[in-house]
Amino acid sequence: MGDKHLIELFNISKDYEGDAALININLYIKNGEFLTLLGPSGCGKTTMLRIIAGFVQPSSGRVLMDGKDVAKTPPYKRKVNTIFQKYALFPHLNVFDNVAFGLKIKKLPKEEISARVNSLLELVNLKGFEKRWIEQLSGGQQQRVAIARALVNEPEVLLLDEPLGALDLQLRKGMQVELKRMQQRLGITFIYVTHDQEEALTMSDTIVVLKDGIIQQIGTPQDIYNEPKNAFVADFIGESNILPGIMAHDYSVRFLGREFECVDAGFGTEQPVEVVVRPEDVDIIPISAVSKNAMEGIVKSVLFMGVHYEIQVVAYGFTWTVHTTDAVSAGETVGLELLPDAIHIMRPSL
Ligand SMILES: Nc1ncnc2c1ncn2[C@@H]1O[C@H](COP(=O)(O)OP(=O)(O)O)[C@@H](O)[C@H]1O
Ligand SMILES: [Mg+2]
Repeated sequence: MGDKHLIELFNISKDYEGDAALININLYIKNGEFLTLLGPSGCGKTTMLRIIAGFVQPSSGRVLMDGKDVAKTPPYKRKVNTIFQKYALFPHLNVFDNVAFGLKIKKLPKEEISARVNSLLELVNLKGFEKRWIEQLSGGQQQRVAIARALVNEPEVLLLDEPLGALDLQLRKGMQVELKRMQQRLGITFIYVTHDQEEALTMSDTIVVLKDGIIQQIGTPQDIYNEPKNAFVADFIGESNILPGIMAHDYSVRFLGREFECVDAGFGTEQPVEVVVRPEDVDIIPISAVSKNAMEGIVKSVLFMGVHYEIQVVAYGFTWTVHTTDAVSAGETVGLELLPDAIHIMRPSL
């Protein structure tokens, strides 16, 4: 991955008739990066993609590509290609001609068109489907035609707006792997939009978490998962136990009326904070072993999830979600241990 900033957004805001869709977005995208815009429906993901593509003008701020302001550059002259949420393939053209469309517009020689289309159809595993009509293809195959059609133009940057949203779970998983492989093989920069946190975590180099048009956090999947900056990110990016607490002093936090050792510092003394604990970071221990950083609770429910059990345990009035491989039963009293590094301290969300 290069360190060159291929695309930069400076103080980008967008209002639709006074309603803010994006607020003061600052972001850069590096050459060869797989960057994902992640957030719930309506948070501004598509708007951001359209501003980069040039289909929507920002209300304020600047978009730079290779260091140059592209405010006056129309979409077709930007070095980006877009795969929309609803991929509009041409129903009256076969697979080959759908992919060849852009190259024919450019009036490239027939042999070159043929060579490029064939090599792309091979890349997306559609060799032998050249003559098929679009309606004779499955959803996943249509999606791959759309990808081939975008890639055939050899864009430096590909913008993908929830490209796998219409596919069922199994197909989506397969396509995630294929897309990532293609991206790495071709060295194309991907700006990928999804509301699916798992998809974002497995595919991205960098994730940008958005809420209400505001960037909440930018980081690697590991950063975002392990060190969420606020409770919104923690909650959105995975299941979490989130509860209010008071940072007593460095490395010590109170919640549920009890004091716990933690690894966080710099929050001041006696300051309100939010405490986040992942379900897989709560350990079930024997009641007899309950001492520091642990408490007793009563198991409310047990759900077998295939690899682990998801259990709800009520302790000091709070219902904890716990992922464990230990078999326990509803009604049982158990110990819950939260080791210091299982406890994440955050400033309260705005
Ligand atoms: N063309 C438009 N006119 C008016 N409001 C819009 C338009 N496009 C998007 N919005 C609004 O902007 C906000 C962000 O929308 P969008 O970027 O589509 O979010 P996402 O893709 O994250 O679901 C939403 O409140 C949406 O209703
Ligand atoms: Mg959208």
